[in-house]
Amino acid sequence: MAASPLAPLLKAPPDAIAAAARRVMARCDELARVSAAPGRIERVYLSPEHARVNRLAAEWMRELGMTTWQDAAGNQVGRIEPVTAADGGALMLGSHLDTVLDAGRYDGIAGVLIALEVVRLLRVQTDAGWRVPLPFAIEVIAFSDEEGTRFGKALLGSSAAAGTWNDAWWTLTDAHGVSLRQAFLEFGLDPSRVGEAARRPEELVGYLEAHIEQGPELDRSAEPLAVVSSIASARRFQLVVEGEARHAGGTPYDMRRDALLGASEAALAVERVCAGEHHIIGTVGQFDAFPGAVNIIPGEVRFSLDLRGEYDGSRDRVWDELSRDLDAIMGRRGLRWSAREVHSAPAVFCAPLLQDVIRVGIRSTLPVRSDEPPVIFSRAGHDGMALGAITDVGMLFLRNPDGISHHPDEAVSAGDVAHGIRALAESVLHLAAEPR
Ligand code: GLV
Ligand code: MN
Ligand code: MN
Repeated sequence: MAASPLAPLLKAPPDAIAAAARRVMARCDELARVSAAPGRIERVYLSPEHARVNRLAAEWMRELGMTTWQDAAGNQVGRIEPVTAADGGALMLGSHLDTVLDAGRYDGIAGVLIALEVVRLLRVQTDAGWRVPLPFAIEVIAFSDEEGTRFGKALLGSSAAAGTWNDAWWTLTDAHGVSLRQAFLEFGLDPSRVGEAARRPEELVGYLEAHIEQGPELDRSAEPLAVVSSIASARRFQLVVEGEARHAGGTPYDMRRDALLGASEAALAVERVCAGEHHIIGTVGQFDAFPGAVNIIPGEVRFSLDLRGEYDGSRDRVWDELSRDLDAIMGRRGLRWSAREVHSAPAVFCAPLLQDVIRVGIRSTLPVRSDEPPVIFSRAGHDGMALGAITDVGMLFLRNPDGISHHPDEAVSAGDVAHGIRALAESVLHLAAEPR
């Protein structure tokens, strides 16, 4: 039996929320047109498209009476002050505007636009301009690099905001050999000032993000929204298998050291080992054979490995077991293998108080099928993984039909966006009502 919704704190008529949801959908379409690739969505860190979406987001922030700035790492921020003069810090709401290659139009983007609609619903006009009737300011942040599409290292924007920027990243290069440092300069940012993007924990009340689920759980359970309990721990590797390139016809089987066959066995081992371990997901998403000719046995294969799990310990045990399997596979085939770790992030657990206010926010929004809204552990990465270093993190998931994401068919319904806007606004109001 459906539980009844809690009494709402938000005084907004349903048609205002429906209009807000329509605006989010229309703006997702508008941002989807800002792309480096005709006919598909591609918007990477420090590109001309990044600059264009920041300008649009800044315009939309200023329309709401927010003060705006682009920080030293290219994140676009807007801030609206509280009605009270007291310095209660700022609650950050947001997500990211960068995309994967051939992306959908909602991953990250919907979260930024939902945050702007929450500001629209909460703000009040005062003699001093637009304010929020809360004990803290609200900042909406559009992170510049969550996906890591361009430089292989994810969460660059949010790491800068968290003050965990690593100078070793400056020499990372994109597919055209442009270094991160050079890309900063070309974008008009000063690499020596990236530290200025760092936020201090004492300035922040917390970070709340709405995001599409990027998986099928809500769709399968016919629930529009969920509370996120934690964000997956992740490790990414670039692996190389080396054998010997030789004539495809002249080399008998007992003389072949085929790197492609060894790497293929390794990819199958990833599936076998990960599927055998609770909540670990392993993906080989890039796979290149060299020299790459029909009549030459592949002498070298380079491939990627993305490992995710709810807990760091089980993720690391899987990697250890995989490493032993790869030793055995390559030993048997006369191949060598090596791995370079390119990304590592511990699991981030959403703060109990923020999980609570999101749960109450969802319950005050709509009847849920059971007493409690679903609680989901996020297998996808999010900016909160970086922000968790300096502040409490909470996340709200929106149903993602068929769970398809990182794909042009990615979707969310306007009705669910309306629920998400209302739930996030209610969560903010419930957080404001908590003793601090
Ligand atoms: C980002 O979407 C990731 O989880 O890779
Ligand atoms: Mn995302
Ligand atoms: Mn993504």
